[in-house]
Parts: sequence; structure tokens; C-alpha cells
Amino acid sequence: MNKKRVVVVTRKLPEAVENRLRRDYEPRLNPDDRLFSPDELLALCDGADAIMPCHTEKLTADVIGRLPGSVRAIANFSVGVDHVDLQAAKDRGIVVTNTPDVLSDATAEIAILCMLGAARRAGEGERLVRSAEWKDWSPAFMVGLQVTGKRIGIVGMGRVGQVVARRARGFDMAVHYHNRRRIDPALEQGATYHPSLEEMLPLCDVLSLNCPTTPETTGLLDERRIGLLPDGAIVVNTARGALVDDDSLIAALESGKLYAAGLDVYNNEPAIDPRYRKLTNTFLLPHIGSATLETRDAMGFRALDNLDAIFAGHEPLDRVA
Ligand code: 8YV
Repeated sequence: MNKKRVVVVTRKLPEAVENRLRRDYEPRLNPDDRLFSPDELLALCDGADAIMPCHTEKLTADVIGRLPGSVRAIANFSVGVDHVDLQAAKDRGIVVTNTPDVLSDATAEIAILCMLGAARRAGEGERLVRSAEWKDWSPAFMVGLQVTGKRIGIVGMGRVGQVVARRARGFDMAVHYHNRRRIDPALEQGATYHPSLEEMLPLCDVLSLNCPTTPETTGLLDERRIGLLPDGAIVVNTARGALVDDDSLIAALESGKLYAAGLDVYNNEPAIDPRYRKLTNTFLLPHIGSATLETRDAMGFRALDNLDAIFAGHEPLDRVA
């Protein structure tokens, strides 16, 4: 019988995924779900054939450069790969994969939750009830903004963006989008394409960020671009914190230029800019876009499908490097 390949699994994964790992590989699991330091991770990789990391492990050029030569694959348990230096992996001939598709519905649900939470002041309301501070009701009490019939602008009309668009249509929202390229018109379902982000921004009552972090998109939502949004717009981010310049977003929330923001992702998670916590017009979630039972299993199986393909000598479905 062939010796099983050794896979370093950096975080605790769903039981069904770990069972399949035990069946087909020799996994080095992390039952305590502890966050490994780069040195601990490197030590664990000694003699390993592959790593299955999450976005919490920063696989920088330095870390990748120090990986043992036995490591042939990095099968990410994530769609985002901004935590991996892809060029460094390529240079070492390490195959890198991600887990697209399977988390689009779950992440789009959280984008809609962030939009509604910000527009309807759900965080404030929840805190009021929970703290027993809710004393009265009046027509002026906790009045928010309605999203039905408003305009949403989606930055990044990929898999998640397209599901956000479909769900937004359920609220009779007019959908605008900006993408590097126009998507197949058959998939647009009436959405209006804007080749220029600057042209789209003045039309967005709600702006939803759904693009990956790249050198081009890092800091995309800055002071100038926020200034182009209509007064009282809502910003939703379920992609990556690095897309946003925190100082600019916080200033616009403080000044009232923006009505509110619904955020699931941040720069420097989980040590986010503390000013977000102080603002009442922020609806804040702890990076749970893909955190459903169904999706976590599907992400694990997708990562394993990629590993199986790599070790069978086939091209994996989701190769990113
Ligand atoms: C995941 C995500 O939970 O897949 C991604 O890119 O941002 C999240 O939804 C996380 O990255 C798992 O590693």
C-alpha cells in the first residue's frame, strides 16, 4: 500500500472533513484550534507533503522560502488568498488552490445582513433590548433607512457579487456594478455595468465591496471615492478590510457623510481599529461570511478535492498558483 501523504491542517476543521482527511491522508491536526506562529507552523511542516491553511496563517515570502522541500501543495480553506505570497509559492514550484463557489451563498447572506443591519440600526436596537435600556416607543424611535427600491453598487461582480445582486433584487433594488470586465450580459439580469468606479459611486445608495484584495484594490475605498458617494450612503464590506482606508471611512461615518457601515471584515483582524466600536452607525460582525455548517463542510471537501487532484497528478480545479 502507498504511504499516505502528510497534510498539515492549521485549524480545527469540521468533523466530516477531518474524517476524510484521516481516511485518505496522514493529517497533522490542530484539535485545540490554536493559532500557530510562523515558526511553529514551519516546525509542523517538517516532512509534510501539503498544508491546508486558513486566512489566519500568513504565508509570506519568508515563510514560504523556509518551508521544507517536501511541501508540494498549499490547499487553502478559503477563497481569498491574500494571506499567501503566490509568487513565492510559484517560485518554489508549490501548487496553491482556494475554495471558490461553495461560500458564495453564505457570504452574500452576510452582505445582505450587513446592509440591513446598517440601514435599520439592528446593532443599536439589539444592544438596547439586551441591556434592558429599552424604555419607550415613539414614532421617532430608532428610525432607520429603508433599502427597498434603492440603488446598490457592487464592486467586484464575481461569484459572491452576483449572488448579492440576486438577493438585492429581492428588495427591488436597482443593481449597478463595477468590475475589471463586463460579465456575460446573460448573467447581468438587468444590472448596469460601469467600467469606471468613479462613475458608479454617485449612483450608490448602498456600496457593497465584493472584490479580492490585490495591489490594485488595496485601499480602494479612500477619502476621494467616499466623497463621490451620495450623502447618506451605506457601505458594506464582506470581502477584505484591506480594501478600505479606515481613517477615511471612520471620518465619513463620524461626519455623517455616510449614514452607516455594515462590516464583516477589517484591517488587522481581530485587533480592529477601536474607533469602529465607538460609532453607533456601524453594524459589526466578526468575519463570519462563510461561517455556516453547510459551507464549512463544502469548503473542506473542496480543499480536499484539490489536494486529491494534485497528488493524483491531475490539474486541481481551483489552482491559483
Ligand atoms: C473564510 C474568507 O472563513 O474564504 C475566505 O476568503 O474570507 C472566509 O469566509 C476564511 O478565509 C477561512 O480561511
